[in-house]
Amino acid sequence: MSLNIITTIADMQSVSSALRKEGKSIACVPTMGYLHEGHASLIREASKNHDIVITTIFVNPMQFGPQEDFERYPRDLERDIAIIEASGGTYVFMPSVEEMYPSNFQTTISVGNISKPFEGIYRPGHFEGVATVVAKLFGATIPDAAYFGQKDYQQTLVIKQMVKDINMSIDIHIVPTLREKTGLAMSSRNVYLSEEEKNSALVLQSALNIGLSLIAEGMRDRALIEQAMIKELSTIQEFRIQYCHAAKAETLELPAEFAKTDEIVLLIAGFLGKTRLIDNMLYSRTLE
Ligand code: PAF
Repeated sequence: MSLNIITTIADMQSVSSALRKEGKSIACVPTMGYLHEGHASLIREASKNHDIVITTIFVNPMQFGPQEDFERYPRDLERDIAIIEASGGTYVFMPSVEEMYPSNFQTTISVGNISKPFEGIYRPGHFEGVATVVAKLFGATIPDAAYFGQKDYQQTLVIKQMVKDINMSIDIHIVPTLREKTGLAMSSRNVYLSEEEKNSALVLQSALNIGLSLIAEGMRDRALIEQAMIKELSTIQEFRIQYCHAAKAETLELPAEFAKTDEIVLLIAGFLGKTRLIDNMLYSRTLE
């Protein structure tokens, strides 16, 4: 099937409604464009499980802070379309800012506790922007399921919470982070990094691996796990840590001591030069 590009909410809703009437199952893959192999893996996964995959491309101004990179966020539509086609996507929903946020737009969705720590501290308002736009994208694409990358770990929890709280009947699938051969987590923002910075950025992955090994060896003292990760991060002087935590994977709580059975997420964020990097890894006993 060739790729169909839709730019208005009304057209998207009528196409989706018609497809649903035909009994097709629909998956939505929300993106901000400048796609990479990580996005392709979401589209491929979605197309394995659903008849129709709608990839949305929308650089959402509402989730960027005033000092952030909205204006310079990378864009390459032609390449995006080629990646979507090659990955099995069937539709692209690509609204304008005016279409999504007309002048009388008045509603924001604010998810509670889960959006407060970590990114919530360093990017105030970010998750309101994400939750609001994702709810709007769901309202336009009317999907049965949606696919997100684990790379934005806290975002996945915020979206799951929103979907549950406001009774959206949409299955949320989380797909593991894809990494470059070097181990660098794939991200559209990696294009900002020089070759030297890309090398330095590998410290995030090595710090996360140190944390994971300690937990696998039985360490459950949060401060000790975090200290070991911070020590590793400090080997790269240019990396300015914003946070480096081990948290309960479902709730993001920070206990002094984890229970043996806890699923644990290790989360790091900080700046390398002008580029903000985030990464995470999950420890689950089932991985042992
Ligand atoms: O993860 C992203 O690319 C964005 O936050 C999302 C989910 C597409 C909302 O704009």
